[in-house]
Amino acid sequence: MALLPILEYPDPRLKRIASPVTVFDAGLKQLVANMAETMYAAPGIGLAATQVDVHKRVIVIDVSQDKSELKVIVNPEIVAASGETMAEEGCLSVPEYYDSVRRAANVTLKAQDAAGDTYTLEADGLLAVCIQHEMDHLQGKLFVEHLSQLKQMRVKTKMKKRHREMDRN
Ligand code: NI
Repeated sequence: MALLPILEYPDPRLKRIASPVTVFDAGLKQLVANMAETMYAAPGIGLAATQVDVHKRVIVIDVSQDKSELKVIVNPEIVAASGETMAEEGCLSVPEYYDSVRRAANVTLKAQDAAGDTYTLEADGLLAVCIQHEMDHLQGKLFVEHLSQLKQMRVKTKMKKRHREMDRN
């Protein structure tokens, strides 16, 4: 397994739209294993392939306290959504920035696992929010792009400063 570098906002590669997975081979299993390792090491509760510069519809999520509930989500589709929630979100591609985004409170997800088997998942709470956040990544959208233009400008300024400081070190 290997840790993968995570792209950070406003890297233009985060805007690429991911393609559906059509081949469920050892390469996909390796990608999923590396993404899970990268997410846990960060540490984070979700990671989309887009964030590691792989533009395929692959997500890993684990919202459990003890890292015991890894969800592998390939070719996700939200088949039903209801309610509304406003929860504070963060993102491994936008470090040290948190803000609230409006999302559906309940979603029904249809997806495939790493072997290509289709499953359905009913989600609410943090898991529902996380699924929607990660699916946005696959469409080239970050959670900060749900915020006002002013807030987005502030985040960009903050990230520029961060990247300047990283370049210096
Ligand atoms: Ni994110």
